[in-house]
Amino acid sequence: MPDDVFTYSSDKPELVSGSAQPQDQDVEILSLRPERLGDYVGQNEVVETLKIAIEAAKQRGEPIDHVLLHGPPGLGKTTLAHIIANEMRGKLTVTSGPALEKGGDLIGILTHLEDGDILFIDEIHRMPKTVEEFMYPAMEDFAVDFVFDKGVHARTHRYRLKRFTLVGATTRVGLLSAPLRDRFGIFRSLDFYSENDLVKIVKRSAVLLRVKVERQGAEELAQRSRGTPRIVNRLLKRVRDYTQVRADGVISKTSVSEALKLEGVDDKGLTDLDRRYLNTIIKFYRGGPVGIEAIAATLQEENDTLVDIVEPYLLKIGFITRTSSGRKTSEAAYRHLGVAVQEKIFR
Ligand SMILES: Nc1ncnc2c1ncn2[C@@H]1O[C@H](COP(=O)(O)OP(=O)(O)OP(=O)(O)O)[C@@H](O)[C@H]1O
Ligand SMILES: [Mg+2]
Repeated sequence: MPDDVFTYSSDKPELVSGSAQPQDQDVEILSLRPERLGDYVGQNEVVETLKIAIEAAKQRGEPIDHVLLHGPPGLGKTTLAHIIANEMRGKLTVTSGPALEKGGDLIGILTHLEDGDILFIDEIHRMPKTVEEFMYPAMEDFAVDFVFDKGVHARTHRYRLKRFTLVGATTRVGLLSAPLRDRFGIFRSLDFYSENDLVKIVKRSAVLLRVKVERQGAEELAQRSRGTPRIVNRLLKRVRDYTQVRADGVISKTSVSEALKLEGVDDKGLTDLDRRYLNTIIKFYRGGPVGIEAIAATLQEENDTLVDIVEPYLLKIGFITRTSSGRKTSEAAYRHLGVAVQEKIFR
């Protein structure tokens, strides 16, 4: 198996080899991860779909259909893969698109799966084309085709696989080829969480971390977390440190404001990078429209970072729009940054 592959059994998560995305492997963050569908906050439609699919599959004694999860980082795709494995009592094998360099890497993993096991492929849109082709028969017929020799002597041998479930996660469903996308029986997009749901997550995490949070403190954290559970948990831990050292240990609205000021997180939850992104469009490109490459070059950041991490939330709150000629900032963004809208109109 390639280095970046992990095998977890449903009752005892165990790292078999390599090192996954570091932030997901942080022990404390791992302990905040809900393990059952019943503990998963929000995303009601996704949860309902999975509940029905899991229940029906269990009744028939079959594995559930392949699942494709789409959405910005930190909204709970990996968490759902773990939950599906727990609920189906299958073993979970975790890998990612870029880690699968050759067809052989994938075949190695597939042939080790047992009936009802779950294979989770993160960033599945980054799986190489040559590897993807092995995936088609594996998903459809639970088989892989080995090819021996080349040219006129080429022979193929079909190897039967056990009935597994593939769970794919992607931040960019548009980059997935149609044949691959169509082979998933269940396809769901995760959306940013409401403030209500984030408050619930703060309360749940506060209990697990044994820290006291006032209602207004939880609300303030929820408002500043860009609709994202991973961010709310991370900020909760920063504020916990702050209140422990600089305040009375109880997380209040004031302590959240003070602690997040140090973190560079403003009252809308925007970070320094978000503000630099908006300022670049406003100051350098007169509010746009401007292409993503130009913004990335000015900021000296990767295109992908901006498209995957920065833009989704700014689009969600209406600070930017995406048009055929590029990105534009909205009046709300000018107001938030305290830049006069006039400046744009008269220049
Ligand atoms: N619905 C939820 N309820 C409670 N906590 C959640 C929920 N979804 C996610 N979390 C928390 O947020 C953290 C991040 O979630 P997760 O790792 O599943 O995100 P992801 O969508 O896989 O992100 P990425 O695309 O960056 O891999 C988890 O460790 C978990 O603690
Ligand atoms: Mg993940």
